[in-house]
Amino acid sequence: MKYKIISADEAATYVHHDDNVGFGGFTAAGTPKVIPSAIARRAEEEHAAGRPFRIGIFTGASSSDKLDGALARAKAVKFRTPYQSCADSRVAINAGEISYCDMHLSELAQTLRYGFLGDIDVAIIEASSVTDDGKIYLGTGVGIAPTVCRLAKKILIELNSHNPKELAGFHDIYQPADPPHRREIPVYKPSDRIGVPYIQVDPEKIVGIVETNLPDGVKEFAPVDEVTMKIGQNVSDFLTAQLQAGLIPAEFLPIQSGVGNIANAVLGCLGKNPHIPPFQMYTEVVQDSVIGLIREGRCTFASSCSLTISDKLAQEVFSDLDFFRDKLVLRPGEISNNPELVRRMGLITINTALEADIFGNVNSTHVTGTKMMNGIGGSGDFTRNGYLSIFTCPSIAKGGKISAIVPMVSHLDHSEHSVNIIVTEWGVADLRGKAPRERAELIIENCAHPMYRPLLREYLSLRGKGHTPHSLNAAFAFHEEFLRSGDMSLTSFEDFK
Ligand code: COA
Repeated sequence: MKYKIISADEAATYVHHDDNVGFGGFTAAGTPKVIPSAIARRAEEEHAAGRPFRIGIFTGASSSDKLDGALARAKAVKFRTPYQSCADSRVAINAGEISYCDMHLSELAQTLRYGFLGDIDVAIIEASSVTDDGKIYLGTGVGIAPTVCRLAKKILIELNSHNPKELAGFHDIYQPADPPHRREIPVYKPSDRIGVPYIQVDPEKIVGIVETNLPDGVKEFAPVDEVTMKIGQNVSDFLTAQLQAGLIPAEFLPIQSGVGNIANAVLGCLGKNPHIPPFQMYTEVVQDSVIGLIREGRCTFASSCSLTISDKLAQEVFSDLDFFRDKLVLRPGEISNNPELVRRMGLITINTALEADIFGNVNSTHVTGTKMMNGIGGSGDFTRNGYLSIFTCPSIAKGGKISAIVPMVSHLDHSEHSVNIIVTEWGVADLRGKAPRERAELIIENCAHPMYRPLLREYLSLRGKGHTPHSLNAAFAFHEEFLRSGDMSLTSFEDFK
């Protein structure tokens, strides 16, 4: 190999205070594993010497504690986009120490190419192999790697021998032209391939290679609990009824599913449902349950931006890559989440809400309207454009002190115009074609926890008038009561009338 092999600490010397750094990967999958910690160490040394050292971080999605966590703890992050889910970085964001721009994942690559967010100084990419003529074959995640490789002045590569070389060929790297030259993106079904299996860069830009041999570090899922299982069952029963009513085509439609325990349970229930035919997925993350569904023949093809699977399962997949070769493709985030493609292929989208209001608006990001949880991620890319946009959540949180169904969401991510269906463990509210008053009735009676239904009905009976009958002085009574007493279940709306 013609490139210079360097240590992680040497790689970190290529990153300077105020630099914008673009990382490959998507979730912990394919995220660089040793250079970010070396940059964090460098930041701590610079701070100890009384010099400033803070950088801008651009990724495909969330990363890992080795990246977001290490850099946040070292107080080395000036700017962060488009998404994170790391505890220490969340604390710094909510303390106002990190300037965080929560963005739709599909938009970041083009936003960078348009120049809206400044230059990318360095790209740091995990690869499974690199050729002397500048072909980078990625590992388990793609994210914004093609764009940051193209824009960056310098490229640092973590060559991870934990990834088998045979991963080459699973990727489909394609970058759309930018306006006014953009044409349609020619993906018509999840398995269509439109690009090449590598990122081509000018080899002169690769300033060094750091060798690693590390797994992604994705943990296994917690066992499915009763509430999550009921939500999964409700989604599955709802989709069966839609299929039987002829409202979903008989061959079914591709599914997008968010990440986490609920998504895992939903997919498990869909997989076991004999009335739902084998289906395809067009999604941003393939998690453990999808691998099981592919093995069982229930999922016949999955298009994704990453293979975010637990380390143990990854070993099994890596040792049987030939089986998966014609059943999986990994794409850049701007293609895996592309609104044009979501609309064209008619995706059934399933994402998770923190809270929903009785009129069908959804908050996915802000606890009590102020504290950032993670970010909007890909949920908006899919929800706004899906054939059927579903949101799931448990009806209560924190042992019932929080109702996930509230009079008015304390922050808005997905408006009533984009949200079709809300599902909790109690049931399903199908909001399509319904006026706000009708939606409120469905959401309260079918989705709210019984302990909060009387309060929500009482809210509707206040003086609220108009098409959407809010009482503005009481709209945040649940949240205010929670901030005051630690429990949303107020005794009466009297104080708020
Ligand atoms: N108010 C305050 N806290 C709430 C809450 C509410 N209305 N609803 C849930 N929570 C808390 C839970 O108690 C839990 O807290 P804990 O970590 O202290 O136990 C935490 O939020 C996570 O809730 P959980 O029920 O475990 O759900 P989750 O892990 O599936 O996460 C989201 C839910 C909404 C935070 C997560 O799905 C997300 O970030 N979504 C936005 C991005 C997205 O949709 N990505 C996928 C697109 S492809």
